[in-house]
Amino acid sequence: MTEQSTVAPELEEETRSYAELLDPEVLADPYPLYKNLRTTDPVHWDPFLHAWVVTGYDDVTTVLKRFSARRTPPPEYFELLGVPEVAPVAELMVRMMLFMDSPEHPRVRRLASAAFTPARVAVLDQRIAEIGEQLLDQVLARGDGHMELMADFADPLPAMVTTDLLGVPVEDHMDLKRWSTTFAEMLGNFQHNPERLGGVLEAVQNLIAYFTREVEAQREKPVDGLVSAYIQAEVDGDRFTTEEIVANCIVTMVGGLETTTNLFGNGLLALLRDPEAMARLRAHPELMDSAVEELLRFESPSQHTARLAPRDLELGGKQIGKKQAVIAVMGSANRDPQRFGDPDRLDLARTDNRHVAFAWGAHFCFGAPLARLEGRIGFETLLRRLPTIELTDEPLTWRENLGLRGLTALPLEVSGT
Ligand code: HEM
Repeated sequence: MTEQSTVAPELEEETRSYAELLDPEVLADPYPLYKNLRTTDPVHWDPFLHAWVVTGYDDVTTVLKRFSARRTPPPEYFELLGVPEVAPVAELMVRMMLFMDSPEHPRVRRLASAAFTPARVAVLDQRIAEIGEQLLDQVLARGDGHMELMADFADPLPAMVTTDLLGVPVEDHMDLKRWSTTFAEMLGNFQHNPERLGGVLEAVQNLIAYFTREVEAQREKPVDGLVSAYIQAEVDGDRFTTEEIVANCIVTMVGGLETTTNLFGNGLLALLRDPEAMARLRAHPELMDSAVEELLRFESPSQHTARLAPRDLELGGKQIGKKQAVIAVMGSANRDPQRFGDPDRLDLARTDNRHVAFAWGAHFCFGAPLARLEGRIGFETLLRRLPTIELTDEPLTWRENLGLRGLTALPLEVSGT
C-alpha cells in the first residue's frame, strides 16, 4: 500500500494591512504582521493608509537613502483647507532638519553639527551616571521593592540629560517632556485624531514660546549648552535665524526624548523576557555596547518613518508614482532574515549588526552618539544597582504611538543596594 501525503499544498497567505497596528494585540507583538508583509508583498500598496508599506531591509535602506523627506505640507495649505490654526505647526515643521531635502538639509545639518559636537556629548557621561544613580536612590529609598521603570527611570533620565545638553534649567524637564510627548504623538502616528489636535497645538505653542524666550535670554547671556551653541554656530559666514534655532532645538529634544525613554523600556523588557540573555549581560558587562545595539535592533524605539517618492520609479517590482507616500518600516527591516541570521533571537554579542534603528543616509539620527551613551550608562547603572529585577503579573500595555514603540508602564519587583 502506498502512503498518501496528508500535507496540503502551502496556501498563499493573504497580505495583511499595516493599519492592523491599531489593534492593541497586534501592537503588543507586531512582528508576525511584519513577517506577513515581508514575505507576501514587501512593497505593498495599502489602500487603507493610501501609502506604500516597505518592509524588507534592502528596500527600506533604499527608501531612506533616495526618497524625499520633505513631507510636511506648507503652512498655506492648511489655510486653504480652512484650518488656519494648524499653520503654525507646519511653519515649525518645515524648519526642522527632519523634514528637509537637499540643499536645505545639508545646510542646516552642517550648522547644527558645528554646535552639537562629539565633545559636547562626551562631557555628559558623568551627568548621565549621576542622574541614573539619583533616580535609583529614590526608588530604593522607598524600600517597598516596587519600581515602575518608565515613571521612575526611563522618562526622567533622558529628559534631565536633555536639559543639560540644551543648557536650560533642569526643573523644566517635566514640562518639556510633557509637551514633547504630545508633539511626538503626532509625529509617530498615521491615524487621524482630530480630538487630539487641540492638545498638539497647545504643546507646540508652549514649545515655541519656551525656546523663543530661551534664545532671546541666551543671546544676551550665553550659557554652556546647545541653545547658545546654535546661536553662535557659524559656517562660512552662514548662521541660524531665531526661528531656525527654535525649530531645531525642538526637533533635537523631541527626537531624543521619546526614543531614548523607549530604548530603556523596550530593552529592559526584552532582557527580562530572556533570562539567559540577562544573565549573560550581568556576567559580561563588557558586552554592554554590543547589547545596546542588539536591543535597538530587536525592539526598535522608532519603528517606521515616512517619505515621498521623488519621481515615478520602480521599487521591488512595483511602480511608485511621484509624491506617493511611502512608509519605511525599520522595525521590520531589523528582523529581515535575508540580512540578520536568526533575526527573532536576542543575541547580545551579535556581530555585523548594521541595523536601521537610527535610520540610514542623510537623516541618520543626529543624536545617535548621545543615545548610545545614555543606553550604555543607563543599563549599566540599572543592572549594577538592582541585582534582582523581575516582571510582575500585571498586563503590559503599549502606547498608542504606532511609530515610536514604547510601553505605558513597566511595573517591576526589584531589590538593590
Ligand atoms: C534610542 C534613541 C534614538 C533613536 C532610536 C533615534 C532614531 C532616529 C531615527 C530613526 C531618525 C531618522 C528619522 C527619519 O529619517 O525620518 C532620527 C533622526 C534624528 N534624531 Fe534620533 N533617535 C534617538 C535618539 C536621539 C537623540 C538622543 C537625539 C538628540 C539629542 C536625536 C535627535 C535626532 C534628530 C535631530 C534627528 C533628525 C536628523 C536629520 O533629519 O538629519 N535622536 N533619530
